[in-house]
Amino acid sequence: MYFDTHAHYDDRAFDNDRDELLSSLPSKGVELVVLPGCDVSSSMHALQIAERYDYIYAAAGIHPGELAGFKSGDIEKIRCMASQEKCVAIGEIGLDYYWDDSRKAEQKELFINQLELALELDLPVIIHDREAHADTMEILFRYPMLRGVLHCFSGSKEMAQELLKRGWYLGFDGPVTYKNAKKALEVLEICPLDRILIETDSPYLSPVPMRGKRNDSGNLSYVAAKIAEIKGYTAEDVARISKENGKRLFNI
Ligand code: NI
Repeated sequence: MYFDTHAHYDDRAFDNDRDELLSSLPSKGVELVVLPGCDVSSSMHALQIAERYDYIYAAAGIHPGELAGFKSGDIEKIRCMASQEKCVAIGEIGLDYYWDDSRKAEQKELFINQLELALELDLPVIIHDREAHADTMEILFRYPMLRGVLHCFSGSKEMAQELLKRGWYLGFDGPVTYKNAKKALEVLEICPLDRILIETDSPYLSPVPMRGKRNDSGNLSYVAAKIAEIKGYTAEDVARISKENGKRLFNI
């Protein structure tokens, strides 16, 4: 019943028990998962995993945090992977001024190149925006035909309103269950349920009460329960509607 729209099962944290875990998730109510890539090799790994499991899909892209390893020719490789049947989006791509704000121009160029690739291939995008809200919005709003999700949305209520007005989806993860989640909860209050995606960002961002442990899609129930509480729905409604949202966005 759950659609985890953002998990990194190519991560080393799953090297010891990946197949065991991925074989067990459907029995825990996990119906669909999208694995975004962070560079060429992780996108390739995500796609290989997606090819082995019916319920798993992949996205291909270069994360702003991987700029240092970026080589000319990588975009062509992303294009090639993105045309595979199990690849449903370009991502995760975006801007991250938290880890490195010294190469903003290069981050923007890489971001824009991949947004244009998504438009060309008619694929949605999975956006990573950390401490780069103004530049992210300015760039996204240049492309009114783009569609996608702001993954682990960390912007303000006002930013959310601008994005919602233009058809964007917002992704929510474990942090909505944290004590300091005030801003995310304010955004959830104004975000209609039909524009919410739920994610884990596994192996990161485990929700309370699993915080500090390795995350996996089986923990999506805690995220759904918190959203249900804020929105005044049942957790089942949140799971079902967010799954439909994800299927609509990723054309699954
Ligand atoms: Ni991620």
